[in-house]
Amino acid sequence: MTTAQGIEALSHEHRHFPPPPDFAAKANAQPGIYEEAEADYQAFWASWARKLEWMKPFTKTLEWNEPFAKWFSDGELNACVNALDRHVRGGKGSRIAYYYEGEPGDRWTITYQQLLDDVCRFANGLRKLGVKKGDRVAIYMPMIPELPVAMLACARIGAAHSVIFGGFSPDSIVDRVNDSQCVALITADQGWRRGKKIALKANCDEAMKETPSIKHCIVAKRVGDPVEMKEGRDVWWHDAIGGQSAQCEPERMNAEDLLFLLYTSGTTAKPKGIKHTTGGYLTGVTSTHKLVFDLKDDDVYWCAADIGWVTGHSYIVYGPLCNGATSVIYEGTPDFPDKDRLWEIVERYKVNILYTAPTAIRTFMKWGVEYPQKHDLSSLRLLGSVGEPINPEAWMWYRDHIGGGKCPVVDTWWQTETGGIMISPLPGLTTTLPGSATHPLPGIGVDIVNDKNESVPLGGGGYIVLTRPWPSMLRGIWGDDERYKETYWSKFPHKYLAGDGCRRDHEGNYWFMGRIDDVMNVSGHRISTTEIESALVEHPRVAEAAVVGKVDDVTGQAIVAFVSLRGSDAGSHDLGDELRKHVGEKLGKFTTPKYLTFTQELPKTRSGKIMRRLLRDIAEGRMLGDTTTLADSSVVAELQERAKTEVHTEE
Ligand code: WTA
Repeated sequence: MTTAQGIEALSHEHRHFPPPPDFAAKANAQPGIYEEAEADYQAFWASWARKLEWMKPFTKTLEWNEPFAKWFSDGELNACVNALDRHVRGGKGSRIAYYYEGEPGDRWTITYQQLLDDVCRFANGLRKLGVKKGDRVAIYMPMIPELPVAMLACARIGAAHSVIFGGFSPDSIVDRVNDSQCVALITADQGWRRGKKIALKANCDEAMKETPSIKHCIVAKRVGDPVEMKEGRDVWWHDAIGGQSAQCEPERMNAEDLLFLLYTSGTTAKPKGIKHTTGGYLTGVTSTHKLVFDLKDDDVYWCAADIGWVTGHSYIVYGPLCNGATSVIYEGTPDFPDKDRLWEIVERYKVNILYTAPTAIRTFMKWGVEYPQKHDLSSLRLLGSVGEPINPEAWMWYRDHIGGGKCPVVDTWWQTETGGIMISPLPGLTTTLPGSATHPLPGIGVDIVNDKNESVPLGGGGYIVLTRPWPSMLRGIWGDDERYKETYWSKFPHKYLAGDGCRRDHEGNYWFMGRIDDVMNVSGHRISTTEIESALVEHPRVAEAAVVGKVDDVTGQAIVAFVSLRGSDAGSHDLGDELRKHVGEKLGKFTTPKYLTFTQELPKTRSGKIMRRLLRDIAEGRMLGDTTTLADSSVVAELQERAKTEVHTEE
């Protein structure tokens, strides 16, 4: 292997979908936008920032003290005022902010006026408990309306929120709370998940034995079973807001004041508290939400992620609310009470724009088309995908079976660290290709480089880097500037390392190939796991596949595939051989998986990303590494058993 190697590009996709002409004619993004942004990217962002409401207008755009950025740093604004007050004052108080649907079937609507009143009461309640500007507040809640209320109330009084996904364990709460010294913890008694009760308050009680900085725990009532309430520390939500006024003076925040922390777990090391500030973050999420999702006044928009992930922060809470959107929030899982729950919701609220993840789409494929077919999905006009590379097969299925073959599909690449979408089609302008995130958005600087930091020509693959600052970029890692520099800015000088492999085709379209750590080296070929997985998923019987490299005497690494089949298909030795052969024929003989194991489920993080690191441990027969972020730990035990009886043929 030479040092200047990129990643080999093996697959070629020829299907192209130009934007439908009527969509293009009315689209928010019109021709010229890329050129305008490229001519002066700072002026482009400043013009988007000016669409927000400022308490004190900014005069400076960017101060770049690499790798630390400040955007709009002499301006003042409040995120909550931009999300709510502005619309209410503008006469849109009766507009629906959220259609809320709980897992057990409870439903209600929340207008901008109601949301503002609730936020103000809760913000006053927090102030009364002593929470003040500059504090950090942890939020560990199910998907109930109190969750966005809690986030916006923090923003209103200038406290940074740190949302901890409700599926995490007490230990994860302890690490995150202690790292940033949160003064309060907001939770619920319990949450619903597939009809079962999740013990949120009990998890907090466990955690609070080791979090001395927490002075108060505020508990919203969701389920109603009795929970322990510690005198002096724990307060019910309804008591915290009791008697509070629906008026609450918002803090004047500097554009660079911390809006929130969101922890991302690395593969092994302790989670990083990613810092996002106020002015730049809001500029990034409002502009991308408007352009990528082509949001119109009468749209019903639904991002089916959890608010506990960055996708929910940016595209359920801040982006949509700042744009005055009407959104759907759904509390539960897609298979409760049955596997058509999402499609029932789309039909009920006449959802126009749907944003979900490839892992969900592949699950829907596995369940079968009969579930979406039971419902009228004709209201949909745009589909989005985020979280992982989307296989062409899943992209086509999404387009055909959910979008009725008529909706543009936007595959959006970004990260917790980028705050907002970076690479994505603009649906009225971009010709899409199944499996490609297409092009960087206007104003965004991107390159693909090899190990020698040379730009890889079109047609090749390598490391994706970001080449200029952008408003919603992370401002660092809480309490650890060195780790920030080391993780993102040290491999290539003056370039942000995203950690993903990517190739550009001859037309300049970007194709993501998974995390760099997952790249395999087989007989000197650097191969992306994504391409082999996509080839496997192409087979009509395959629902999902994960591929890893296993140490091999002959080839350096050998390819190991874990495959889950559609419906209740258990697979067979012959099917294993057929699939292996299929990959070799499609991508080249050297890519034929040496080992193939069928499995019901793949190990995934709670946000749905396949944990290839654990699969490598299984393939190489090692003790498993850290499994704390795994969504369902029974999956790996089953896999360890199966890997012993795997189907494989040596060629
Ligand atoms: C992956 C989620 C390919 C990628 C918003 C990235 C994607 C990581 C895509 C960030 C996509 C996200 N195509 N890969 N459209 N979207 N990723 O921080 O590896 O949870 O680095 O943010 O997800 O995950 P995070």
